[in-house]
Amino acid sequence: MKYKYSNIALIVGASSGVGKVCAKHLHDSGYKVYGTSRYATFVNNDGIDKIAMIPMDVTHEDSVKEAVEYVIKREGVIGVLINCPGYGLAGAIEDTYIEEAKKVFDTNFFGIMSVCNAVLPYMRNQKNGLIINISSVAGLITLPYQSMYCASKYALESLTECYRMETADTGIKLSLIEPGGMKTNFKREYIEKYDQSTYKEKSEHAINKMIADEIKGPGPEIVIKELKSILNRVNPPIRKIVGVEYKLIGILRKMLPARITEIIISKMYGGG
Ligand SMILES: NC(=O)c1ccc[n+]([C@@H]2O[C@H](COP(=O)([O-])OP(=O)(O)OC[C@H]3O[C@@H](n4cnc5c(N)ncnc54)[C@H](OP(=O)(O)O)[C@@H]3O)[C@@H](O)[C@H]2O)c1
Repeated sequence: MKYKYSNIALIVGASSGVGKVCAKHLHDSGYKVYGTSRYATFVNNDGIDKIAMIPMDVTHEDSVKEAVEYVIKREGVIGVLINCPGYGLAGAIEDTYIEEAKKVFDTNFFGIMSVCNAVLPYMRNQKNGLIINISSVAGLITLPYQSMYCASKYALESLTECYRMETADTGIKLSLIEPGGMKTNFKREYIEKYDQSTYKEKSEHAINKMIADEIKGPGPEIVIKELKSILNRVNPPIRKIVGVEYKLIGILRKMLPARITEIIISKMYGGG
């Protein structure tokens, strides 16, 4: 098989959901895959015939550096990096403590930035490499009572666009994959003041709809079509929305005035 990028892949958050299926797909396609989990160890992960699981917590820079250096020491290169970590926080903004908000950004935004910054110097030396950041449709469309998740994904979108421009002459490519609701082990925390909130009833309605969309959604395998398309393109697109219905939402988002989108989303999720 001819690879556009070196055939060493690092999948951050490969123990579950999107990361797990991406790791399997790349492994089945002939890549040597290093996957990460906060609960893995550096032992017993040898053997080119399996995915090597290594520890990494993206909220700790030392942990990120240690994992990246472990792969570089063994392989010399990282051809493909996929960043999957992300979790939700349910509740009204007014009742959200700043510390709770920062914690979401520590994983969903700063965590991904930390991994990109650790890997980029090696990719720059190689003059080659692909980074895929797993975002969300919630990085394009804001949902009420899930504000910090949306804001962190909007920020991740902007970060990825900036990286693309800043690394444009280095041979490094970056793309975003934006899934909608999927059936995975996706974690959603609740703000401390959720039950006492003035917005309790409305937020429960909105969050229950999101949970229902995830439960009746497709499995994480749905992202593989977009992953393949990004891997095969000489110039990968900035973003790939996952699934026909969400692609349609993406088109409408571009066409409709912002006020109309706001009315539709508020009707669907009971924001107003
Ligand atoms: N499921 C959905 O409906 C949905 C929709 C749109 C977008 N997304 C996005 O898709 C991505 C993957 O989500 P998923 O649904 O596959 O969730 P998931 O099943 O919970 O998988 C998350 C993965 O990230 C890892 N992870 C979590 N926190 C981490 C941290 N601090 N440091 C390092 N690794 C960490 C987890 O590994 P360990 O716990 O083993 O460390 C796990 O492997 C997320 O960015 C999510 O926002 C999901």
